[in-house]
Formats: sequence, C-alpha cells, structure tokens
Amino acid sequence: MDSTDAVILVGGMGSRLRPLTLSAPKPMLPTAGVPFLTHLVARIREAGIHHIVLGTSYRAEVFQSYFGDGSAFGVEMEYVVETEPLGTGGGIRNVADRLRAETVLIFNGDVLSGVDLRALLATHADTDADVTLYLTKVEDPRAFGCVPTDAEGRVTAFLEKDPDPGTDQINAGTYVFRRALVDAIPPGRPVSVERETFPGLLAAGARVFGHVDSTYWRDLGRPADFVAGSADLVLGLAPSPALPGPTGPALVLAGARVDPTAHLSGGTTVGAGAVVWAGAVLDGSVLFDGATIGPGAVVRRSAVGFGAVVGAGAVLEDAVVGDRARIGARVELVGGARVWPDVVLADGAVRFSSDL
Ligand code: GTP
Repeated sequence: MDSTDAVILVGGMGSRLRPLTLSAPKPMLPTAGVPFLTHLVARIREAGIHHIVLGTSYRAEVFQSYFGDGSAFGVEMEYVVETEPLGTGGGIRNVADRLRAETVLIFNGDVLSGVDLRALLATHADTDADVTLYLTKVEDPRAFGCVPTDAEGRVTAFLEKDPDPGTDQINAGTYVFRRALVDAIPPGRPVSVERETFPGLLAAGARVFGHVDSTYWRDLGRPADFVAGSADLVLGLAPSPALPGPTGPALVLAGARVDPTAHLSGGTTVGAGAVVWAGAVLDGSVLFDGATIGPGAVVRRSAVGFGAVVGAGAVLEDAVVGDRARIGARVELVGGARVWPDVVLADGAVRFSSDL
C-alpha cells in the first residue's frame, strides 16, 4: 500500500519505565524476545505499508543501529531526530518533509494492539476524513484521553483525563492523517497532538472520525503493562508476526539455560544467555539477555534487566530490576519496587515478611 506512509513516534523519555529506559528507549526494550518496535514494524509491513519514518529524540542512535535502512525487516526506514523533544504533534510535523503519500498512518511507539490497520485506513477513506483516530473501549476511561463520537462516527469532543467523560471510548494512540493536516501543524515548537492539534481541528470544523476497535489494546508505558504486554505476546493473546518462536506459556531464547526443575508460565520470556537455576518459578515475567535467576527464586509479573542476578530463594512480585543489579538471596521485592542498575542488595536485605 504505497499510497500510505507510516510514522512512528519514538522520541519520549519513557520516564515511567525507569530504570529500564535508562539504557534503552522504551520502544527498544525487549518484549517477547525482540525490541518492542519490531512487533509494530512487522504489523505495519503486514498491512502492506513499506515506508516508515521514525520520529526520534531520546537515545535516537539506538533505533538506527538496530533497524538500519529497514531492508532486513522488509521495509524502508527513515529517521528524523529532534534535538529538543517536540512532543507528539511537533514530532509528527517534524517528519513532514519525508512524507510521500497523501495518507499518513501515525503510531505512538509504545502501543501493542490487534487493530486491523487496513480496516482503519478503510474507515478513513470511506468517511473522507481529515483525521481518523483509532479508538478502543476500556472499563475505566478516566485516566485516558476520551473521545466521544456521534452516530456517524464523527468525533464530538476530546476530553483529556476527565473524571466523568460519559464515554468508554479512548484515544488508542494510532491516527490516520490527510497529508495536508500534517503540514498544518506549526513547525519548530513543541505541540501536543492530543491537547492542541485535535481540539484545534474540531474547533475549526475539520472532519475528524473515530474507528472503534475492541480487539487487543495495551499501552506499555508503565512497568505492569510492559511486563503484561510481553506476556500477552508470548501467550498469543496479542498478535505479532515477529514473535521469535511459537506462542505458549514461555519463550526461551537461544543460548539460555533453564534447569528442568524450574517452572515457567504465564508468557514468561527468558532472554538469550540467561540462566534459570533449579526450582525457580517464573510467571508472566521478562528476563532480559544474560539475567540469572537463582535456585528456588520466585519471579512473578516482573522485569529483570540485562545481566541482573536474582539470588536463591528471592521473591519478586510486580518488581523491576535494573541492568546488572544483584538481588541477594531471600530478598523480597513486591508491589512495584524498582531497583536501579548496578545496585547490590545483600542477602536478606529487603523483606516483606518477618520469617527470615
Ligand atoms: P513517559 O515519560 O513515561 O510518559 O513516556 P513517554 O516519554 O514515551 O511519553 P508518552 O508515553 O506519553 O508518549 C507516547 C508516544 O509518543 C511514545 O511512543 C513516545 O516515544 C512518543 N513521544 C512522546 N514525546 C515525544 C516527543 O517529544 N517527540 C517524539 N518524536 N515522540 C514523542
């Protein structure tokens, strides 16, 4: 579909995912065995789109060194770097001179979704829209940008984090723009597409439509969602043509060693060269390359960074361990605990129970 360009916004700092995003930008964190963006690029290519422009800022060089010109991924990849982050709208405007097509499909680079991209583009064409937003429905929409639509699917308002939005439809972070609307975003200054561009288009009477899709959707911005998104890819709940193995309870990458008495479940990924010792229990977790899990340790819904070590009998639940950190034996980290890179926690140093 060379009538459509794809743009992926990947310039954010990913501060909510620290400390994992200290070493790599959020879209490049290993998710079900490959950098997250690999899944999105594969879905874009599968929709027949071959020209992808990345709007980068934070750790811009990491993207180019992995994807190069895109040919190894079946696409043509270009990069535009913002020296100062321009925000989501500014990031879109900043790639305008690389666009070739009349239709531009724009992605937040941290959304995992099963939306049918061809159907989204069809809605855009059928409604002759200026902008079409992919909308999804969530149980509690109050923390999101809510987007009510009328009977024809035309957007009637943009309600950012409204305590009583009156709709369960939220902005799912993927948009189709008519090319001229990209050019109309003011250049050279930070712009929020959600807070400035979209409300401005509505006020100006532009044709803004919603495409509601209720298949899989998850924004991987927070640690719990990052870990759950990776697990959902491994389990096959979230679709990806780029999964480096069959779907199932666990994905063990080449060069990893897992003791036969260890128990892996819930879509756990064991990274390349990682080691899992006897009796360890890994459930719904992500081990980055070279991580080590000691004998009898229990790791649930957690991320363990590159080369980090979790000691014997340690318990991690909903925790994030930074690269190369060492978690001592019998340490317990629960409830969103974050350990920074290279930190060493002595054996039994942090507990949530009193029976050491
Ligand atoms: P937090 O710091 O944790 O909020 O994450 P973030 O910086 O990634 O921000 P957010 O999740 O709101 O960003 C949504 C998407 O837009 C992500 O894919 C970001 O990479 C991208 N993004 C955010 N700000 C910018 C920016 O200034 N420039 C570009 N090019 N992309 C951005």
